[in-house]
This record gives sequence, structure tokens and C-alpha cells, in this order.
Amino acid sequence: MTTHWTANWGQFYGFTKDSPPWPLLMRAAALASRGGQALDLGAGAGRDTRYLLEQGFQVTAVDSEPRSVTLLAALPQDHLQVVQSSFEDFPFAFAIYDLISAQFALPFMPKERFATVFGRLKAALAPGGDLVVAHWRGWPAEAPQEAAEVHRQLTSDERFETLVEHLDAEFVLHVFRRR
Ligand SMILES: C[S@@+](CC[C@H](N)C(=O)[O-])C[C@H]1O[C@@H](n2cnc3c(N)ncnc32)[C@H](O)[C@@H]1O
Repeated sequence: MTTHWTANWGQFYGFTKDSPPWPLLMRAAALASRGGQALDLGAGAGRDTRYLLEQGFQVTAVDSEPRSVTLLAALPQDHLQVVQSSFEDFPFAFAIYDLISAQFALPFMPKERFATVFGRLKAALAPGGDLVVAHWRGWPAEAPQEAAEVHRQLTSDERFETLVEHLDAEFVLHVFRRR
């Protein structure tokens, strides 16, 4: 059951399907020298999933949208597990991911579920693993969460070291490393 705020992502998938990966993810993947297990939350049309596969990660790509799952099914499947699920229902494993990427996705979670799910997400990162998060500042206005607030919950968490921070009028971007 979809409990989160949702939108018609068709146009976004059309724009991004053949796009290069989000630049911050490339930077984080370069920092994460060991490769290993990656989790792409809100994988959409798969631009970042594809890049992570190309970088040699074993990738779990999660999205609740059936159209996303269809597009992800067109990627090479050998090192990919596609999971159609909301973040709220996804069974996060404990401390196994070397890289978690959540690009333009986390603020869509419902406010009342956010703390619990965010706690599971953070615990899913292996010690020394990296979390890459980006979102538009204040857009879409109807989204349940404000990106800056979501990111504040990481910058204020002493278990996470901020490796990269970029804040401007349009974007809020971070790479965090779990201590
Ligand atoms: C703006 S798109 C970003 C897609 C991709 N990360 C990118 O940057 O190209 C947001 C994606 O997150 C997914 N999404 C949003 N909220 C979600 C939730 N609570 N659970 C699972 N997927 C969610 C949407 O279905 C959509 O594919």
C-alpha cells in the first residue's frame, strides 16, 4: 500500500533515464574505495543504479513505483536486486551497505514514519560506509519534509562524519561517513 506522498514521476523518468549519474554520487563512489554492497533508495529510472553497477557494486535498488521497477528491469541484472517497496516497508538489513544513495527521495517519506525509517536506514550502513543524499531545497512544496531538516538530522548525528557538503539556493547535498 502506498502511504507516502507520491507524484507522477513519468516526466522525471523520461528526463533522467539516459542521464549520467548524479555528480555527487560519482564523488561518493570514488571516496568509497572498497566497493561492495550499495543500496539505491528511490532509484527512479535508474541513472545512479546503472552507475553503481558499472563501478562494481552489488546493488539493491528500491522504489515503490511500478514504472521505476520496469525501467530497472532493463538494466543488467547479474549484480542487481530490484525491490518494489516503499522505504517504510523495506526490510533494511543491519550494517551491511558500503554505500547508500538516496537522491531526491527521502523528503517524500511521511513525517510520522520518518524517524523510525531513517533510524533503520542509518543502521543499515556498515561502519565506514557512506551515505549520499541530495534534494531540492523547498521543492516540491507539497512534499511532507523539507530537505534541509532531513539533512540536519544527519549533520547533528555524531555517528556520522560529514565528508562533503554543498548548500545553495537550489540544492542540499551531503556525503556522510558512518564512524
Ligand atoms: C525524484 S525521483 C528520484 C529518482 C532517482 N533517485 C534520481 O535521482 O534519478 C524520486 C523517486 O523516489 C521514489 N519514492 C519517493 N518516495 C518513496 C517512498 N516513500 N518509498 C519508495 N520510493 C519512493 C519515487 O517513486 C521516485 O522514483
